[in-house]
Amino acid sequence: MIEPVIRQQYDQMSAIYDQRWSQYISNTLNFLKAWAELAPTEKVLDVACGTGEFEQLILTEHSEQNMVGVDISEKMLAIAQQKLQAYPNVTLSLASAEHLPFADQSFDVIVSASAFHYFENPAIALAEMKRVLKPNGKIMILDWCKDYLLCRICDLILKVTDPAHQQCYTQAELHGFLKALGFDITRATKVRFGLVWGMMVATASPKLN
Ligand SMILES: C[S@@+](CC[C@H](N)C(=O)[O-])C[C@H]1O[C@@H](n2cnc3c(N)ncnc32)[C@H](O)[C@@H]1O
Repeated sequence: MIEPVIRQQYDQMSAIYDQRWSQYISNTLNFLKAWAELAPTEKVLDVACGTGEFEQLILTEHSEQNMVGVDISEKMLAIAQQKLQAYPNVTLSLASAEHLPFADQSFDVIVSASAFHYFENPAIALAEMKRVLKPNGKIMILDWCKDYLLCRICDLILKVTDPAHQQCYTQAELHGFLKALGFDITRATKVRFGLVWGMMVATASPKLN
C-alpha cells in the first residue's frame, strides 16, 4: 500500500510545495486550463488537487465555477482550503482517487494533473472517475510522459530512491488504460515544458452505447 507513504511525503512537503515547484506548477496548470476550455457552468472534479492551484487559476476568471478537489494529503488540502476559503462554490475532501466519495454521474469534467504516476492501481482510479462522471462528461489526465528520455531516466532513478514513486507511463499505456475502461480518447497530445521535460495530456469521454 503506497498511499500512506505518498501522504506522508506530501504532508511534509506541503509548506514549501508551491514555492519549490512554482515554475512547474505555473507551466503545467496554465497549459491544462487552456486545454480544458471549461465552461463556467460545468461542475469540475480535480483528482489529486494538491494545494488548490488549479482551482485558484480557474476561479480567478470564473469565480462562480463549481469545483471539487480531492487529495490524500491533509496538509496539501489545508493549504488549498486557506487559498480558496473565499469561494463557497469550492469543496475540498480528503479522499483517494481509488475511492471517490461522490454519487454516480456527479461531474461534467474531471481533471487530474501530475498525479497519475502515483496511483497504485490506475485502472481502479479511472473506473472511479468514470463512475462519478456524467455520461456525456469528459476526463482530462495530464501527467509525466515516459516517451521522453528524461522521464524514462527519472522513472528508473525514482523507483530506487523515492519510496513514494509508483510508475510513469508512455502515452500508449495511458491510452490503453482509458480504452480498456470504455473511454473514447477525443483529444490528446504530448508537450514539452522547458527543453527536456515531457508530459502528455488526454481528454476522454465514456463510449456511447
Ligand atoms: C505533484 S502533486 C500535484 C498536485 C496538483 N494536481 C498540481 O498539479 O499542482 C501530486 C498530488 O497527488 C496527490 N496524490 C497522490 N496519490 C493520490 C491518490 N491516490 N489519491 C488522491 N491524491 C493523490 C498527492 O497527495 C499530491 O498532492
